[in-house]
Amino acid sequence: MTDLLQPRVVGTDRQRVDGVAKVTGRAPYTYEHRVDRPAYLHPIQTTIARGRVVAMRTERAEATDGVIAVLTPFTAPRLETGQNPELEVLQSTDVAFRGQLIGAVIAETPEVARHAAGLVEVEYDRQPHDTELRADRDDLYAPDVVNPNYPTDTAQGDLEGAFAEAAHRVDQTYTTAMYHNNPMEPHTTIAVWDADGLTLYDSTQGVHSLRKSVAALFGLDPERVRVISPYVGGGFGSKGTPHANTVLAALAAKRTAGRPVKYALTRQQMFAFVGYRTPTIQRIRLAADSAGRLTAIGNDVVEQTSRIKEFAEQTGEPTRHMYAAPNRSTTHRLAALDVSVPSWMRAPGECPGMFAPEVALDELAHQAGIDPVELRVRNEPGTDPESGLPFSSRHLVDCLREGARRFDWDRRPAQPRATLRNGWWIGTGVASSIYPARYSAGSAARVRRTRSGHYEVGIGAADIGTGAWTVLTQIAADALGVDMDEVELQIGDSRLPTASVAGGSSGTANWGAAIVAAARAFRDKFGTDPGTGDELTESAGDNPAAKRFAMHGFGAQFAEVHVNAATGEVRVPRLLGVFATGRIANPRLARSQFIGGMTMGLSMALHEESVTDHRFGFVVNHDLAEYHIASCADVKSIEAHWLDEHDPYVNPMGTKGIGEIGIVGTAAAIANAAWHATGVRVRELPVTADKFL
Ligand code: MOS
Repeated sequence: MTDLLQPRVVGTDRQRVDGVAKVTGRAPYTYEHRVDRPAYLHPIQTTIARGRVVAMRTERAEATDGVIAVLTPFTAPRLETGQNPELEVLQSTDVAFRGQLIGAVIAETPEVARHAAGLVEVEYDRQPHDTELRADRDDLYAPDVVNPNYPTDTAQGDLEGAFAEAAHRVDQTYTTAMYHNNPMEPHTTIAVWDADGLTLYDSTQGVHSLRKSVAALFGLDPERVRVISPYVGGGFGSKGTPHANTVLAALAAKRTAGRPVKYALTRQQMFAFVGYRTPTIQRIRLAADSAGRLTAIGNDVVEQTSRIKEFAEQTGEPTRHMYAAPNRSTTHRLAALDVSVPSWMRAPGECPGMFAPEVALDELAHQAGIDPVELRVRNEPGTDPESGLPFSSRHLVDCLREGARRFDWDRRPAQPRATLRNGWWIGTGVASSIYPARYSAGSAARVRRTRSGHYEVGIGAADIGTGAWTVLTQIAADALGVDMDEVELQIGDSRLPTASVAGGSSGTANWGAAIVAAARAFRDKFGTDPGTGDELTESAGDNPAAKRFAMHGFGAQFAEVHVNAATGEVRVPRLLGVFATGRIANPRLARSQFIGGMTMGLSMALHEESVTDHRFGFVVNHDLAEYHIASCADVKSIEAHWLDEHDPYVNPMGTKGIGEIGIVGTAAAIANAAWHATGVRVRELPVTADKFL
């Protein structure tokens, strides 16, 4: 990957190429695809958290006008089992969590399906359940690896020894809440079986990965499954791995024999079985000499997974790369509970894993009497602490300095609880961000010369609202040496060349590299004046530089927080982030990604929290009335800036992923600012009013 793309259109401010279609309602989202005589599905979910379904009485539902069929574990079509229990829907009568899918009513209208689903009576053999994550559980275990493939534990040097001798120490436990992904468009599927196989319109982050899973479950050649998903109304990771809802719709469509089945989750169902961010309990140990130089960093993580499938969030992973300290240790321990399967949510690992250490650093800064920006600068490593490799580029210190300048950081009082204005305590805080610059080989793109003299560029990529339609068109234009309006991009269809999932902030890197490879091969073969119909597909290869360098994006988050002296109400009038994430392909879209991530971080810091009622074993605040997500009114001033970072090693475009880094560190910056305002250290998210009273 030595040949870098010469940027001409890449790097310039462009409107979304799909913007007009979206705002005029002409961009079809999953539920809006037109199909012939659709039937509608409403699921039946367990009302116990552990046990077995003994019987289901479906007669009243079946006798209801407009009901086409009722599926239960006793009657559903069979799937290939033994691979992924999360997806093996209706194949067993075991109940592994409350809200699990155990049936479906298929009817002429969604209303009839919903009504009839309520008429199905379920008899259970109920077993005691356990849904409570605690660090003192005696059944915690170490997974083999953590997501996606990192070591579970790492250790260098002697953490305990360094800790015992240190001039300054922090040893505290921090917790992050359980969070649920709530994209505006819920998970939605239209499933259609015909003689050729199965077609799925599905709101997914990866048409090819979904196709692979579904084909395996139904014992089909992948070529007989087609997944179509040109527009997706947000995913944040929850649509990155397939979930039970898609399989249920496909099972139902098998039963209706040719009639399409439509299934859109209700908001409450979004809290039941499409993934969430595990709650975490992190014990952080920091040791430093009298000058604030870290001698030891430890993060011991406890988090949860489900009994039916393991997902181990890589919460300790960022600690391995952030700061120089000769003695380091990270561990992950899991409790397998009677809960649904946790999964990806924007920056899994980095997001919760940069809350605890970045608050601990703030505590250390105060103890050592060192400014928190300066403390981070003093602990900047020369090489990646974990691997010893040089960074392909790392400009964290520049981000901190630039952010401090823009935020007037030098006017900040050193002591907390120093500013009371009109009944509000006022403070400011800082935290660092990190997110890996991921790249994986294997995505492919097709280039074809059209009759009108344009270039059709096809790749099975997904645009989940990030701007992939636009950025990939920009990359294709530069790779082919033409203008954007000469490129006709096609994405979101598994009939297009294979593409990686839109996850890990890797879409632009993986898909862009494929487009660059295909465009170069096309030009090599057909020249600059190709004939109509000339066509070529090429895939992107490995990046050899990945073995020589540690590759990450970095950022600095600054927050101003006001806490009401009488009520404890917390407001965040200002957030400012400075990022160093390689070449910015499109400033307009990048700003949107950064401030979107920061807003989601504010939401995590102050509002979001999935509350489990352990008596019943499910999330009780499972709707947007009770699960609070930040709205525009919660954000007064939010700025995203970036450095002009050049990194020739990450990929041909020189870009680093930006979809997730914006959420990393935001909650820590806000918690640190709340402490600076009030002198009250909140170590448990969310930062709510009661914690200041
Ligand atoms: Mo992102 S959580 O990797 O979709």
